[in-house]
Amino acid sequence: MRRSLIQRFSADDLMSSLEKMCFAKLIPIVVISFMIDVFYLNVELWFARLFSCRIFTVDAVIVWHSSQLSMHIIMNDRLIKALRRQPVDCTPIWIMRQAGRYLPEYRQARAKAGDFLTLCKTPELACEVTLQPIRRFDLDAAILFSDILTIPDAFGLGLSINEGVGPKFEHPLRNKDDVERLPEIDIDAQLGYVMDAIRLTRIALANKIPLIGFSGSPWTLATYMVEGGGSKEYRYVKGMMHDQPAVAHKLLRKITEAVIGCLKSQANAGAQALMVFDTWGGVLTTPDYDNFSLNYMAQIVSAIKSDPNTADIPITLFTKGGGHWLEKIADSGCDAIGLDWTMSMSVARQRVGQKVALQGNMDPAVLYASSEKVEQEAKRVLDDFGDGDGHIFNLGHGIHPAIDPDRVATLVDAVHRESKRT
Ligand code: CP3
Repeated sequence: MRRSLIQRFSADDLMSSLEKMCFAKLIPIVVISFMIDVFYLNVELWFARLFSCRIFTVDAVIVWHSSQLSMHIIMNDRLIKALRRQPVDCTPIWIMRQAGRYLPEYRQARAKAGDFLTLCKTPELACEVTLQPIRRFDLDAAILFSDILTIPDAFGLGLSINEGVGPKFEHPLRNKDDVERLPEIDIDAQLGYVMDAIRLTRIALANKIPLIGFSGSPWTLATYMVEGGGSKEYRYVKGMMHDQPAVAHKLLRKITEAVIGCLKSQANAGAQALMVFDTWGGVLTTPDYDNFSLNYMAQIVSAIKSDPNTADIPITLFTKGGGHWLEKIADSGCDAIGLDWTMSMSVARQRVGQKVALQGNMDPAVLYASSEKVEQEAKRVLDDFGDGDGHIFNLGHGIHPAIDPDRVATLVDAVHRESKRT
């Protein structure tokens, strides 16, 4: 009897009925998990208020539930599918710096918190700010509200980020002794607030869309740590790279170790995709890029992919100005490459073939133009990518603070409408 049933159904039929069975079983599991999470969250909030202390977020139940509810049951999984180059009903879109100063509600939250770092370090506020753009726009992913500079901050370099001044470190690393004195970071103790914000945000998102975790690339973090802030000339960090390459490599190794630990912890806390921002890789020569930037990003990808707990999490590498190096970035084993607007999507696609998905790449300044122009440019980028899977629409870099949020709504709707598969 069993034999004849199996013979009557094709392998596809069997797979789809198995999927339905699993889905039917999953619904009560999801509802119960959600109720348990809400219950525990309320108990924690009550304790936190009672004792006027920070929320107790290292909570085994929430950790367990967020890992169980991983990406199998995300309601809108366009992003994850596109990162894996699987078919989607329309091109997913999210926006670099989607939670930020162009949103009046962000400026209000920041003013209330007092400063930017307080927003990052208070999980409830970071969660709230992460959700702000999701409430306004039909985005296909949330990205955790935090900053790449949380790792250098955990190294004890004395970070401040002030409006109009940008990031500044009180104790920049200028020589061998500075690098050797750098302490090891205890990720869960010092960056626990990042993981707590991820756990809270996963609960708040209720699996509607995936949550992206991120880090800076070792090279990009080193530029801030050695220069002591933003830079145009990279005098000190390039000086260290050329005159004391062993010191530069020692620093990059220490940062790489911290980045790997931090990304793994983010994934274990519930981040469903990861991105590495190599904002300043593009200022290097080709051999220096290979040696001082890509080499370390490839180690990060390999560490994520070789750990069974994180192997399935898609990882995107974004080197601003990295268009010359696409083939070797794809060889790192990453799932997707982020492109800035100077690169043509179609050319990039020819160069990387089926190896990776591509994310990008509208010039953020187009959002200053009329709605008609925004729609035209969205269509141009989609057409430039062409038919097929593996495109995640994004800007080629972060959204600017003076942009009108209505233009973002226009862009998101245009991308979904124009890319709808028939
Ligand atoms: O994308 C998101 O919405 C998530 C949040 C996010 C921020 N920074 C928030 C932020 C992410 C992913 C970042 C990454 C980041 N931070 C990068 C890499 C990406 C890129 O844009 O190149 C870099 C280089 C940084 C370092 C950094 N943080 C700088 C140079 C600045 C000052 C820039 C400025 O516009 O003033 C920050 C501060 C910062 N990080 C802000 C935000 C919203 C502005 C802070 C404020 O004044 O409120």
